[in-house]
Amino acid sequence: MSIHQEDFRRVTTQRLLEMKMRKEKISMITAYDYTMGSIVDQGGVDIVLVGDSASNVMCGNSTTLPITLDQMIFLAKSVVRGVRRALVVVDMPFGTYQGNSKEALSSAIRIMKETHGDCLKLEGGEEIIESVKRVLSAGIPVMGHLGLMPQSINKYGSYAVRAKEDNEAEKLVRDAHLLEDAGCFAIVLEKIPAKLAERVAKELSIPIIGIGAGGGVDGQVLVLHDMIGLTQDFSPRFLRRYANLQGIMNEAIEHYVADVKSGDFPNEKEQY
Ligand code: KIV
Repeated sequence: MSIHQEDFRRVTTQRLLEMKMRKEKISMITAYDYTMGSIVDQGGVDIVLVGDSASNVMCGNSTTLPITLDQMIFLAKSVVRGVRRALVVVDMPFGTYQGNSKEALSSAIRIMKETHGDCLKLEGGEEIIESVKRVLSAGIPVMGHLGLMPQSINKYGSYAVRAKEDNEAEKLVRDAHLLEDAGCFAIVLEKIPAKLAERVAKELSIPIIGIGAGGGVDGQVLVLHDMIGLTQDFSPRFLRRYANLQGIMNEAIEHYVADVKSGDFPNEKEQY
């Protein structure tokens, strides 16, 4: 457990609400496998997100669209085994909830039964509200996701900042209220103006977690591989890199290759 985190109780959606009420910021990081899930949990993070950004980061796709329900379930199962304290949120992948709320519920039930994750995240507002309500009606907690919604990239054609214009901003605020009224326990706001995100966080009583949405919200989320520098080709303004693990890994691997080539590895003590 992290030196900053002395509370060993499991994080629940209720505890996140209490954190918002006492103005304690919420930390959230992605993880896609057992080892990373366990490392971020031990670091004291409040929420671990099995994000569909795995499509980019783990599978090398250029968007989040190709990742499948089976693949998300495989990744989420592994993460859950590594997490003791944090709340585990699993992204519902593209195509499993958008058009049909019955299909949304059966996809949601599969994820919950097979992964043992705690809750689900869905992208969208009014357009998917029937799916959100149906998933909630089965007792499955839902986190919303508004602003830049990577599953809709083909509609917008770019990953630029969203809701800069008044009409888009007003729709976002309406959608946020709709999600809260439906019963979502939190909402991620991605890449929108900081003032707008702060307004949503003030108007809503559920926690608002930002990524590229400024500091006026209730918590922050980053993609693990970006914030520890395992990826280097993605550098938006909002990303703070806390380490350069790609550099460290490159050095370690080059060192190992050189040792194998020279016969230095293994030495006398490294054999039986
Ligand atoms: O999939 C993901 O990693 C996400 C975060 C960017 C919030 O949805």
